[in-house]
Amino acid sequence: MKFFIDTANLDQIREAQNLGVLDGVTTNPSLMAKEGITGRNNILKHYVDICKIVDGDVSAEVIATDFEGMVKEGEELAELHEQIVVKIPMIKEGVKAIKYFTDHGIRTNCTLVFSAGQALLAAKAGATYVSPFIGRLDDISTDGLSLIADIRLIYDNYGFETQILAASVRHTMHVLECAKIGADVMTGPLSSIEGLLKHPLTDIGLATFLADYKKGN
Ligand code: E4P
Repeated sequence: MKFFIDTANLDQIREAQNLGVLDGVTTNPSLMAKEGITGRNNILKHYVDICKIVDGDVSAEVIATDFEGMVKEGEELAELHEQIVVKIPMIKEGVKAIKYFTDHGIRTNCTLVFSAGQALLAAKAGATYVSPFIGRLDDISTDGLSLIADIRLIYDNYGFETQILAASVRHTMHVLECAKIGADVMTGPLSSIEGLLKHPLTDIGLATFLADYKKGN
């Protein structure tokens, strides 16, 4: 399972990278705005800065919503760095754009996916990643994890190579449950990864080992 971090904050990305288990980064226009990154040139530069920190894939989202606009913007984003994956929204024009990029060897992440039907369409168009937003589904009393399970089943039925990128992960149990279901990737805050570390018996056990060592030395 790949671990991506869902932020545009360079300090957080560095911290996750230093942990040694980071496989990539996802961003979106809201995450960019949260970091105060505005203006086309600053945004493009920020993507390159992120690519310099991490070794893996970095999703960069298009703003255009028409086919021609998405293609133009996506090509520009893909040119920035070999690690860039063009993030395209799950709308009709987006599906066409994903197919275009598939045919032209540009990798894509189909975002804002909330149903298995949308995920099926993204895979048919050849998306590299599909991003079902599980946290946002949970927020409206709909089980985000069952969507991951449904997509896993459908993709396995037909051998689709599109990777399931469980997005809008909010906490550590989301990570674990996605791992059990077989999501290929998860993207969430650093806290959702660091939560995997924690167990009180580890802390108690270590304290005892260290205390016993001190007794004999
Ligand atoms: C995915 O790529 C999105 O950036 C993200 O996971 C959305 O998460 P949120 O629902 O916490 O905003």
